[in-house]
Amino acid sequence: MSALLDLQGVALRFGPAVALQDISLRVARGERVALIGANGSGKSSLLRVMHGLERPSEGLARHEAGARQAMVFQRPWLMRGPALNNVVLGLWLAGQPWRASRERAAQALAHVGLAEQAQRPARALSSGQQQRLALARAWALAPELLFLDEPTSNLDPHGKRDVEALMADFGRQGMTLVFASHNLGQVKRLASRVVYLEHGRILADLPVHQFFDRALLERNSHEAALFVKGELA
Ligand SMILES: Nc1ncnc2c1ncn2[C@@H]1O[C@H](COP(=O)(O)OP(=O)(O)O)[C@@H](O)[C@H]1O
Ligand SMILES: [Mg+2]
Repeated sequence: MSALLDLQGVALRFGPAVALQDISLRVARGERVALIGANGSGKSSLLRVMHGLERPSEGLARHEAGARQAMVFQRPWLMRGPALNNVVLGLWLAGQPWRASRERAAQALAHVGLAEQAQRPARALSSGQQQRLALARAWALAPELLFLDEPTSNLDPHGKRDVEALMADFGRQGMTLVFASHNLGQVKRLASRVVYLEHGRILADLPVHQFFDRALLERNSHEAALFVKGELA
């Protein structure tokens, strides 16, 4: 099967700092890939390379021709003004005409449960609502591939639950997801596959049920098994 995304031998360096090394990874349509690892292990760098925000210092990052993609960050970047306009602007920047964008944007807000907040200033929304607004802005573009960088790490439990529910919903709609997470419970709930990073390298890449099978993980990657034990302790 052809990959939606194919990285081969990717390295990313910033001067002497090595953010990623020797990364080879294929993402197929319909997968939900969780990137996990300690702070500084390279999760954000990998997402940025995948989304095309960074060019690899070495190796190749190939995308399926014409595949649409979007990215959601830990803290949403929102402009002043109504929630709706933030989504309209996203569509307009992607080349949609302004008028058609308004209708699509309203649909996107309704999809994430923010229809009633459409005219409220985006920056006055709660952090959970702001993140749902960022998800609406991404969803409006109908991406086949969505990248999310620790999308719930700044949220209270309600906000987390809402964003997770939307991610699950996007996945069920067939959207391919690649997300960084610090929350192993969330990884279990949402991912179909887990990629464990350490010092910019992939040390484990397994289907989710194998990753959370202690004995199997220990056999595949002692480092990843240690990480999971530490996070659960
Ligand atoms: N723009 C940058 N300039 C210099 N070093 C960077 C830059 N971006 C990331 N790094 C380094 O790359 C490594 C991986 O960082 P990052 O991808 O942010 O990890 P994570 O998201 O897992 O915390 C870290 O050592 C970080 O300091
Ligand atoms: Mg990060």
